[in-house]
Amino acid sequence: MVSTRKRMSCGYLFLALLASCGWASGQTPSDAHVHELLRVASAPDVPAITGKYVGAGSCSASACHGGIAPRNTTKVLQNEYSTWITSDKHAHAYTALTEPLGRQMGVILKLDPTKAQRCLVCHAVSVPEAEQARQFDIADGVSCESCHGASSQWIGPHIQPTAQHQKMVALGLIDNKNLSIRSEKCLTCHLGAPGLNVDHELIAAGHPDLTFELDSFTAVEPPHWVEKGPNGGPADPLYGVRAWAVGQAVQLQQSMLRVARHAKTGPWPEFSEMDCMTCHHALTGPQSWRQQEGYKGHRPGDPPYNLSRYVLFKHFAAEVNPGLNDQLAAQADKVAALVTSMSPDRAAVEAAATRAADLAGEMIAQVRDASYDQARTQRLLRAISSDADMIAYDGERTAEQATMTVDSLYIAEAKAGSSNAATRQAIDGLFKLVNNPSAYNGPMYAAQMKKVRSTLQ
Ligand code: HEC
Ligand code: HEC
Ligand code: HEC
Ligand code: HEC
Repeated sequence: MVSTRKRMSCGYLFLALLASCGWASGQTPSDAHVHELLRVASAPDVPAITGKYVGAGSCSASACHGGIAPRNTTKVLQNEYSTWITSDKHAHAYTALTEPLGRQMGVILKLDPTKAQRCLVCHAVSVPEAEQARQFDIADGVSCESCHGASSQWIGPHIQPTAQHQKMVALGLIDNKNLSIRSEKCLTCHLGAPGLNVDHELIAAGHPDLTFELDSFTAVEPPHWVEKGPNGGPADPLYGVRAWAVGQAVQLQQSMLRVARHAKTGPWPEFSEMDCMTCHHALTGPQSWRQQEGYKGHRPGDPPYNLSRYVLFKHFAAEVNPGLNDQLAAQADKVAALVTSMSPDRAAVEAAATRAADLAGEMIAQVRDASYDQARTQRLLRAISSDADMIAYDGERTAEQATMTVDSLYIAEAKAGSSNAATRQAIDGLFKLVNNPSAYNGPMYAAQMKKVRSTLQ
């Protein structure tokens, strides 16, 4: 990131703050947080290239992002801090390390979760002192700068009435308006990135498994922003479909990079790359649905690679760019076959997965810039629900992605004006079937997905 940060005097920033941050609406400008913000913003020792972290406290003044109710005096809601601290699990991310499950994991793994970087990388803003512009509380957990980037260079400029998003991005603000950048940011923690890893060892010690779908997880977070269209107007009602599609493409890319990392270093086979429930389901007798299905495509007993991040996406990728999707499909199959064989040449896995990540990377921009309309959404919903058997027998992880996917697509459809109570009810039925992963039943899931299909024209 390049920076053209000009040092400004405190006085200048303060006037700008008064104009943009509530002076007109009667907020008290002498708020201690505001003074602190100004002190940090004008600190002379900030290096030119990368910013430093200032902590969530610098955003929490009532005149900035700490309002109780949303306001309409500026471009943003101004109650982002309040939303985060009261309703967003990210504010609880550090506390979780001190609670019984976090502590139990600490005992099993022989580490102190509140001190170990192995945990803190994803559960807090835990950066070396040299990257902290001031002291802040690690107990803030996953806070503003975890997603918006170290702010020492843009926190001052961004409160000017004339502040422009792209200029702030040049100063280190993460461009979360760009869905592929946003997805990648979420996935650093919700899937993994270099140095940020939830592997089977952590999971066996008690860590929840990581699953993600951008549109569904955004709804749950809950968002502290209003999604806008390209010209600052309202976002189109099918924004959720775009978010789903970009999120899938980025997940696919990042999951391929992760399996490449796991193959390169660390224990292998790495069980967290496989379909968990092939090992963790209950043994239900002589004719289980898995035996009836006959282990298509792999040796009975080998746990298959978890390809859930491609199985749904391929329906869309095939429409957006069939040629590229064919290459992607072949490459994804290659990775799956190698990983599923349990004892592959690790270098071959790394090479195949890196190639698949490159192809997924090519797909991202195309998916992000594609057009989304109701016809396309309906086609996608029909295509996915028509693929019920393939999806269901691919395993519980794929069923989970499929459930979030049809839910997202349907909600977008309903927002755009075509709601249908029968579809809603059938999708709710899908959620029930993935509630207890180790009791997952392929044929039952397939039947329910066919019900969803039957409610669509
Ligand atoms: C790659 C990032 C990452 C790392 C590393 C990581 N976590 Fe997590 N952790 C997460 C995410 C993401 C969630 C939320 C998962 C979800 O609900 O989908 C989570 C959830 C948890 C939860 C459950 C929280 C709750 O409210 O129920 C606990 C406890 C936890 N982590 C402890 C730890 C401990 C202890 C470590 C270190 C040994 C650790 N985590 C390392 C990303 C990570
Ligand atoms: C888990 C990630 C995450 C965390 C934590 C987070 N944000 Fe956000 N925030 C986003 C995303 C994603 C958007 C939507 C994209 C955008 O508008 O930039 C957003 C949007 C915003 C916006 C609206 C920007 C605009 O131009 O409309 C503001 C203001 C904001 N966040 C402030 C905060 C503050 C203050 C905090 C801390 C109290 C915070 N955010 C914590 C992810 C996060
Ligand atoms: C710096 C790491 C990090 C980033 C970046 C991040 N998250 Fe999280 N997220 C976590 C952790 C850790 C938790 C678990 C917190 C807890 O339960 O205590 C979590 C929890 C959640 C939850 C609650 C899940 C549940 O089971 O209730 C949602 C939803 C979520 N994140 C969405 C997002 C979205 C959307 C983004 C991107 C805009 C994002 N996260 C970015 C680390 C992160
Ligand atoms: C190749 C088989 C295999 C795969 C795939 C696998 N595991 Fe495991 N898992 C094991 C084994 C073996 C143990 C250790 C059992 C023991 O020591 O008693 C274990 C332990 C666990 C435990 C702790 C067990 C307990 O009694 O509470 C959890 C939780 C867990 N795995 C979850 C997962 C999840 C989630 C995934 C997918 C991301 C997964 N596993 C993938 C074989 C597997």
